[in-house]
Amino acid sequence: MIYFDEQKQVFHLQGNRFSYQMKIVDGVLMHMYWGSRLPSCDGDCLFTLAGEAASFDLPFNRRPREVPTQEKGYFGRRALDIVNSQGDDVLSLRYESHIIFSGKKALAGLPSSYTETEEEAQTLEITLADTFLNIQVVLSYTVFRDLDVLARSMRVINNGPDAVTLKDLQTAVCLPYDQYEAIHLKGGWAKERQAMRTPLPMGHFTIQSRRGASGHENNPFLALVKPETTEFSGEVYAMTHVYSGSFSASADVGMDLAPTMMMGFCPDVFSWQLNPGETFQGPEALLMYTKDGLNGLSALSHPFIRRHICRGYWRDRPRPVLINNWEATYFDFNAEKLYNIAKKGAEIGCELFVIDDGWFGKRNTDNCSLGDWVVNENKVEGGLKKLAERIESLGMMCGLWFEPEMVSPDSDLYRAHPDWCLHVPGRERTQARQQLILDLSRKEVQDYIIESVSAVLRSAPISYVKWDMNRNMTEGFSCVLPPRQKMETQHRYMLGLYRVLGEITARFPRVLFESCSGGGGRFDCGILCFMPQTWTSDDTDAAERVKIQYGTSLLYPCSSMGAHVSAVPNHQTGRSTPFLTRCHVAMGGNFGFELDLNKLSDEDLQCAKEAVAMVKELRGTMQQGTYARLSNPMTNGGSAAWQFTDQERIIVCIYHHQAAANQPPQSIRLTGLEEDAVYHDEAHNLTCSGAALMGMGLPLPYMRGDFKTLLYCFRKIS
Ligand code: GLA
Repeated sequence: MIYFDEQKQVFHLQGNRFSYQMKIVDGVLMHMYWGSRLPSCDGDCLFTLAGEAASFDLPFNRRPREVPTQEKGYFGRRALDIVNSQGDDVLSLRYESHIIFSGKKALAGLPSSYTETEEEAQTLEITLADTFLNIQVVLSYTVFRDLDVLARSMRVINNGPDAVTLKDLQTAVCLPYDQYEAIHLKGGWAKERQAMRTPLPMGHFTIQSRRGASGHENNPFLALVKPETTEFSGEVYAMTHVYSGSFSASADVGMDLAPTMMMGFCPDVFSWQLNPGETFQGPEALLMYTKDGLNGLSALSHPFIRRHICRGYWRDRPRPVLINNWEATYFDFNAEKLYNIAKKGAEIGCELFVIDDGWFGKRNTDNCSLGDWVVNENKVEGGLKKLAERIESLGMMCGLWFEPEMVSPDSDLYRAHPDWCLHVPGRERTQARQQLILDLSRKEVQDYIIESVSAVLRSAPISYVKWDMNRNMTEGFSCVLPPRQKMETQHRYMLGLYRVLGEITARFPRVLFESCSGGGGRFDCGILCFMPQTWTSDDTDAAERVKIQYGTSLLYPCSSMGAHVSAVPNHQTGRSTPFLTRCHVAMGGNFGFELDLNKLSDEDLQCAKEAVAMVKELRGTMQQGTYARLSNPMTNGGSAAWQFTDQERIIVCIYHHQAAANQPPQSIRLTGLEEDAVYHDEAHNLTCSGAALMGMGLPLPYMRGDFKTLLYCFRKIS
């Protein structure tokens, strides 16, 4: 998988269907190629160095370096920016050595992709050095045997006598000169990850978060595609990273018009003092290339995230059908009310009851008690253990909501430790949702969270945790860091959070953790390393959810998306959609309910019961199968279709947004079937070849009324 051609001085990282090549030229590590698989490195003779002809700019500046830095006047965005003790930021990195080994190492302090055995991957580490400053940079590249995802990271070692300051650290890769369009996931609270496509400007294109979390507004995902790329074909270069904090994803189109794609820290909110003898580990970026369009991208990223990012007991297990009380009760509940919702859930086959916000401290509204993780026995009469045991006696697991990174000013924790929150002494501590953020860069704060959450999890049979985080950083500074290091707070916070999550998930390995941040405000591969699923959005309106889940699915697998059926009129939009539609949309992720089943009509309750049975039957395919988008709601007036495929069956879900009179005949063409095989759908009594399903497609019947859905389930019969 990884080769070094000594004579040509070329590194060749070769996947099943991609190649990535670098070449050492006069000691400088150049980027040579990233794209479809090459049989060898003989393309070396085609590698031209732009700007060799006479030009205003030095030839050196125009060569695609693997790690562009400030050297000889490089004017593009740099991958690594270090201000040294002399106050300048010149950095001349030259090849020093390399090693190739089986498997993959973990990154110190940060989550990263992993393998279970050494045979699954090969890793190349290249050491570059600036001998003037005595700084080493170790670049790490892992090629996985089963899936064409390249994992890259960089660590910086200061062997010099003086401290230096890291100002920026990006994983950069230069793409071939061509026309591109950028695809990214834009959003906000309750409208996360709307897939946007825009021509790449001839300049600098950046999406970023300064929020101290990956955030609702942008997602750490960027794809550059050719204008002709569709869901089904065409080239895609995509990047994400395994990090949950502020980030920057960019494409820098320089004077030679070849974009340099980058993913890394957001330099506005990052800085790091690297003392003599210390090492700084940067986050891991995941690079994906395919010629098979956007579905081809998802066919790489979904199984990769399922197998090489998510981990632990629940990784491959069927995710439980849950019922959560948030939209059913908000803060207005007692033990009996919760039990009755759970009981009805058990009657229709739900497997997990989640007690959401409001069970602790004196919390009856969102203005208090975060940090006081002690059950409120006035509401949960008899305590948590008793309620959890009663729920278990219904044959269900019991889950619990926490928001451990936060503190309410009206809490015992805040009264005891007013300096434990992020703040700037002397300035107002800006509250959002009437709460402040704990300073997770501090060990004593991390330990408090670990111990207080552990104590609750030990006190009762809790099998699931919803780990929420409901605001972003404003005065995001630690009061204990010296002035020169204040700007390190955001990254130190992330390191602290990862320590806390690593410790708690190791203590409770059988607990299923679901992350949440006001819905999907922290949906990224960093958090998925600890919690295999994320609450996709607070917007539970089926019509809007289609777009959110569609965009999210570009990168993230359905098994990572929580999706619940809620009441109508919908609490976020006031819209009413049919019950079956809400079920079909929620089947696009980890299925659950977010309503009081006791309030449903007999007809809807029956529908809910049938949906649960169907999810249990089909979830193997929906959670582990190959997922393909067939019709895009962003360009089809809100209507969408998607398909799940495995050895056993093909499931197709079609969401029809708005009815119209005199609709033209439409059909949905399936994908990835065997042309000659015959497929049968019992419910609709259809039997035909894969070729016909892919060529002619499923005809859409005339649908009266808005927000109607259809679900097909085909089996191969010959
Ligand atoms: C956030 C979550 C919701 C719910 C509330 C509770 O908004 O996204 O699902 O848990 O917090 O306060």
